[in-house]
Amino acid sequence: MRKFLTTTAAIAVLMGMGGTAARAAENVEVLHWWTSGGEAAALDVLKKDLESKGISWTDMPVAGGGGTEAMTVLRARVTAGNAPTAVQMLGFDILDWAKEGALGNLDEVAAKEGWDKVIPTALQQFSKYDGHWIAAPVNVHSTNWMWINKAALDKAGGKEPANWDELVALLDKFKEQGITPVAHGGQPWQDATIFDAVVLSFGNDFYKKAFIDLDPETLGGAQMKEAFDRMTKLRSYVDDNFSGRDWNLASAMVIEGKAGVQFMGDWAKGEFIKAGKKPGADFVCMRFPGTQGSVTFNSDQFAMFKVAPEKVPAQLVMASAIESPTFQSAFNVVKGSAPARTDVSDEAFDDCGKKAIKDLAEANTNGTLFGSMAHGHANPASVKNAIYDVVTRQFNGELTSEEAVTELKAAVEAAK
Ligand code: GAL
Repeated sequence: MRKFLTTTAAIAVLMGMGGTAARAAENVEVLHWWTSGGEAAALDVLKKDLESKGISWTDMPVAGGGGTEAMTVLRARVTAGNAPTAVQMLGFDILDWAKEGALGNLDEVAAKEGWDKVIPTALQQFSKYDGHWIAAPVNVHSTNWMWINKAALDKAGGKEPANWDELVALLDKFKEQGITPVAHGGQPWQDATIFDAVVLSFGNDFYKKAFIDLDPETLGGAQMKEAFDRMTKLRSYVDDNFSGRDWNLASAMVIEGKAGVQFMGDWAKGEFIKAGKKPGADFVCMRFPGTQGSVTFNSDQFAMFKVAPEKVPAQLVMASAIESPTFQSAFNVVKGSAPARTDVSDEAFDDCGKKAIKDLAEANTNGTLFGSMAHGHANPASVKNAIYDVVTRQFNGELTSEEAVTELKAAVEAAK
């Protein structure tokens, strides 16, 4: 197929026909923010898979964890009338673009391959708009994880902390060992990622009322103040150079034993694996204390933009390739995430991956699966950014916990 198309394109050029259409048919331009070592390794699985199907890849990486910068660049591209073929996107952002009428239609391939039956409804909420498939989900990540350096944990007695008090005791022990207790990068999305877990540790109802229902009483209440107090406590365990640090550099601190723990989504595992580290032997993955049984999820999807008709076939091949069970396994083993389909075996996954898949299925059955506030699966960007702003200012000591709850309630109310 590839050979045929390449030849056709070459002939078209030779005959002075430009050949643009023929070449465009076998190319996808992909905008994404997967630039860390682990992320790039996972993306490579997709690139190679498409290349094997005769589709070439034009890379548009926009560095910046969580995709904040990527979304700014995307807006500029679309405004200029030059949308990429496919764009890595999270949750409500996909729906926002769909509302603007900017996205294409994947119904044909979705129907042919029976996506409705195998892609969890929690993801379909964001892959479909107005009954039509607009995006292909590639994975399911979750944010309420912690990644502990195993040697440091062993030195501290080896017990995984079961609750907040035990976590604090462990962090104190890391301090005594002379390492940075908490590896963190001071960027709004990273602060918000920790806040996801801290809020969830007060219970499922609390998380749901706060971030899904946006209940003003909950956002401005006494328990939220306690959640902010916990953020202040965690802030006391980061090093002096945390401000602005990229998340993967924070992961590296744990990998190298310079820090004890990182609170981060399971893309962090991609960094550990890339560095040759083994779960159980070199690092420990566990749910943030008090959140076992619950999952705050985010799913990376490739939103497919409306493109010229000759580019659509490659777009459909890409969507189909992403949803193939073999690809789902190969990609997510490297990325640290769980597959976006319910029928993929966990056989190839390591213990953390197996746990991710199991936790996800259980949380889905038990009604304890929630969209991540920090990663755009609880609210549209306007509300998310309002929350980010308060969380970051409080984390950096610009607001007391009392001021933060008042501001949080007001900011969310205004952004709704
Ligand atoms: C998340 C995304 C992950 C990972 C992370 C850090 O929002 O879902 O795939 O890329 O950001 O960049």
